[in-house]
Amino acid sequence: MSRTSYLHLLAPGRIGTMALRNRIVVTAMGASLAEPDGHCGERIVRYHESQAKGGAGLIITGVAGVAWPTGANQVNQIAISDDRFLPGLTALTEAVHAHGAKIAAQLHHGGLIGVEDMLAGRPVWAPSLPEPPTGDFTEAFLLEELAEAPFGRITSVTIQVMTKADIDTLIAQFAAAASRARRAGFDGVEIHGGHGYLLSSFISPTTNRRTDEYGGPLENRVRLLVEVVRAVRTAVGPDFPVWCKLDSREEGIPGGITIDEAVRTAQIVEEEGANAITVSAYHDAGKPKLHSASHTPHEPGLNLPFAARIKAAVGIPVIASGRIEPVLGDEKIADGSIDFVSMGRKLLADPYLPQKLAEGRPNDVLPCIYCYTCISAIYVGKPLRCAVNPEIGFEYLHRQSPKGGKRVVVIGGGPGGMESARRLRADGHQVTLLEQASQLGGTLRIAALAYQANEPLLDWLRHQVESSRIDVRLRTRATPELLRTLSPDVVVVATGAVRGLPPIPGNDLPHVMSGDDMRRLMLGEGSQELARKVGWATRMASKIGAASGLTSNLDFVRQATRQWMPLGRRVVIIGGELVGLELAEFLSERGRMVTVVDEAPRLGAGLTIVRRMRLLAELKEHGLGLFPDASDIRIEPDRVCFTDQTGNAQAIDANSVIVAKGAAGDSTLARQLEAEGFKVHEVGDCTGIGYIEGAMRGAARAAKEISQI
Ligand SMILES: Cc1cc2nc3c(=O)[nH]c(=O)nc-3n(C[C@H](O)[C@H](O)[C@H](O)COP(=O)(O)O)c2cc1C
Ligand code: SF4
Repeated sequence: MSRTSYLHLLAPGRIGTMALRNRIVVTAMGASLAEPDGHCGERIVRYHESQAKGGAGLIITGVAGVAWPTGANQVNQIAISDDRFLPGLTALTEAVHAHGAKIAAQLHHGGLIGVEDMLAGRPVWAPSLPEPPTGDFTEAFLLEELAEAPFGRITSVTIQVMTKADIDTLIAQFAAAASRARRAGFDGVEIHGGHGYLLSSFISPTTNRRTDEYGGPLENRVRLLVEVVRAVRTAVGPDFPVWCKLDSREEGIPGGITIDEAVRTAQIVEEEGANAITVSAYHDAGKPKLHSASHTPHEPGLNLPFAARIKAAVGIPVIASGRIEPVLGDEKIADGSIDFVSMGRKLLADPYLPQKLAEGRPNDVLPCIYCYTCISAIYVGKPLRCAVNPEIGFEYLHRQSPKGGKRVVVIGGGPGGMESARRLRADGHQVTLLEQASQLGGTLRIAALAYQANEPLLDWLRHQVESSRIDVRLRTRATPELLRTLSPDVVVVATGAVRGLPPIPGNDLPHVMSGDDMRRLMLGEGSQELARKVGWATRMASKIGAASGLTSNLDFVRQATRQWMPLGRRVVIIGGELVGLELAEFLSERGRMVTVVDEAPRLGAGLTIVRRMRLLAELKEHGLGLFPDASDIRIEPDRVCFTDQTGNAQAIDANSVIVAKGAAGDSTLARQLEAEGFKVHEVGDCTGIGYIEGAMRGAARAAKEISQI
């Protein structure tokens, strides 16, 4: 994010009578942060308040149940189905208004996706009996995730095909909820007409097989939405902003909603008095990869062309969503393709993004790394959380003012060390950061190479450390002697994991490398162990790269490794967790025939559910061999042998073998320093493998503890 002016994104805007201070909208995210009884309590109030403080123009709540608890699709969802919820809803709008933002309630009924109905044994409402689901989106879940996921506890589902009386009840519930929203001080309502929920199940030809006036041609399928819009309008009056969230298409659903139909639907609701359209998308939930290919996309700006199609066909504002970077959003508002940019994940990672853009500090925006921790938490019935921003969802736990002024030495310049140093410096401590390598980054560098979305976090942490008054000492080993000369009040040990090679027969053969060896090779870090394994030409190239600084440029490494890499054509990776799978993708994109073998019953531990769904699907598309649940693995000079999960003996040809497992926490240095009398906090992988989220959370915890003593 290098631009400093975002004139169009930061320009005031208007939806109906609602004036907004800028074009940045917090998209609806069901955060599961309301109270179990549906009330908005302190937790969700402070969560949205921080988004208002951060400068967003408009905040749209996550799904708010118009018939709650009926129609709820997640725990701790906002309820707006009864006047008893007014006090909490009012506290929410007041907290947001105090910071100059506007807030809208997203009116929702889950219909066929009403998981809470299914769990409670209530019938789920539907336009007609749906086809049995196809595919299995749970195939990418780890067994422990399946055990905790709410849908795992569903024993049977009763579908209630809605009668005309049910339809009338539903319309009245939406209208009453809208009126309640207005009385609670909301500035508008967004009617959720997408994502497979009840209203969109009427719009989609694949779930609506009715033969009455609510089924058949589009005009009939949108009738329910139209009647809801009319009833809501009557309930709230002509001036209150009311708009609809619509699916621009249904990905992977043959015969589902198309963009042409979505355009027509948008025009119809405009004719009915809607003040804006939020453009989203839905997908076949049975296809794991599509969970990151519609409303919450992996691909940047995926839904923008569809938003532009709708914008061209209507006269009301269009709110676009789906991984829209500020630069792109600014451009699209400027060229008239859209009017507002709604952001979700970016504002979880940093709710202060709007304010930082307005202050000309885009490089201070803590970037989202598109890891899907946030939404994957919802899949297993937990409240939303963010991998890079441990404070999100915990704003209600007021932090005492930090007590600065201590001398702190942080050992290790990886993500845990850099983030600790940054936080401690911000709290007013005098911080020295020791890193034995020649540059900051640690394992985040290889993580950024393997998954490019991690790179902005690497850049951000480096920038934060380098631009604050932290004494950074590279190529410096932390010894007790050095520490004694620095005489810190506190030491933070963030030295990362140890990665021993697990005792797999043949792991000492020359063509076997560890994950660490791969990192050193690609990033020009070198080691004696590596020197024994790769030829002189490779060593030379890697040294030249390191000396010229080229291997510190990850783009260069990405491109260079497409041309040349000292690995045979056939690679077997032993270890199918995050590191092994991301490496598998990296190598297969570089022309290697890769096979992944692991003893674990399911691949992808360490990856979040939605990210794992995508990565496993992509690896299968690339034709990789994936062997979970393998046993008796042994490495031979030209192949890897094992027994697969069906009991068959397998022998996979391999010119190179990478063992990407065996990483474990390592407290040796921390214990040694404690024995020397230092006060020590441990952060990151040295306490056990926690990846980026573990490092960021550990750093927050350590800084809090140190600053409160
Ligand atoms: C944790 C989470 C919860 C979500 N819950 C909702 C929701 O309640 N209602 C809704 O319409 N969309 C929901 N979405 C989809 C978002 O509105 C939005 O489409 C998505 O986050 C893509 O925008 P982004 O790339 O800026 O994150 C959710 C997304 C996330 C990440
Ligand atoms: S959890 Fe990951 S994807 Fe979600 S907001 Fe945070 S960094 Fe982004």
